[in-house]
Amino acid sequence: MKQAALTPSVLFKSALSLAALLAGVAAAASPDGKALFTTNCAGCHQATGQGVPGAFPPLAGHVGNLLAAQGGRAYVEHVVLYGLNGKISVNGKTYNGVMPAFGQLKDADLAAILNYVSTSWGNKLPSGQKPFTSAELAKYRQDKKTPAQVNALRPKTVK
Ligand code: HEC
Repeated sequence: MKQAALTPSVLFKSALSLAALLAGVAAAASPDGKALFTTNCAGCHQATGQGVPGAFPPLAGHVGNLLAAQGGRAYVEHVVLYGLNGKISVNGKTYNGVMPAFGQLKDADLAAILNYVSTSWGNKLPSGQKPFTSAELAKYRQDKKTPAQVNALRPKTVK
């Protein structure tokens, strides 16, 4: 039987299919932040991120302010890991509800959700901030906070 010659063109084509395969593996490995938000968060904060005034605070037009405040990035990461309760005020409206913890999700899933939330509905990461990583979430997972302790971490400058 005649063997396929390893011409440069054959080698190039195999390199291309290997690259495509690896890209596929990478895509499958990085979680879909939008899908995870829809499953875990949209029931309360809504698919639009607008929340429900008086019950569930908006994330749209708001998360950027939280992240830009001193300590705000760590606070937001603690909120998803440990939940939140106690009084907060967002755009002059008071909320005194209970958000459940999402620590049962993987660090990479939580990072993907926060990356979705911080770049959707017109939200932007404050300049100089990099996307959320699993390593960041893994670090705060060691803290073991209660939802009330998370409330105490909320930046006082965000009203
Ligand atoms: C069962 C309803 C519910 C779900 C589900 C939920 N939240 Fe919340 N979330 C709340 C409530 C209620 C608050 C305000 C808690 C309070 O009043 O102390 C809140 C607060 C927040 C805050 C802090 C807002 C601020 O100004 O301090 C962030 C950020 C947030 N949620 C993100 C998320 C993300 C991301 C998810 C999905 C992983 C999620 N929430 C899922 C109900 C929910």
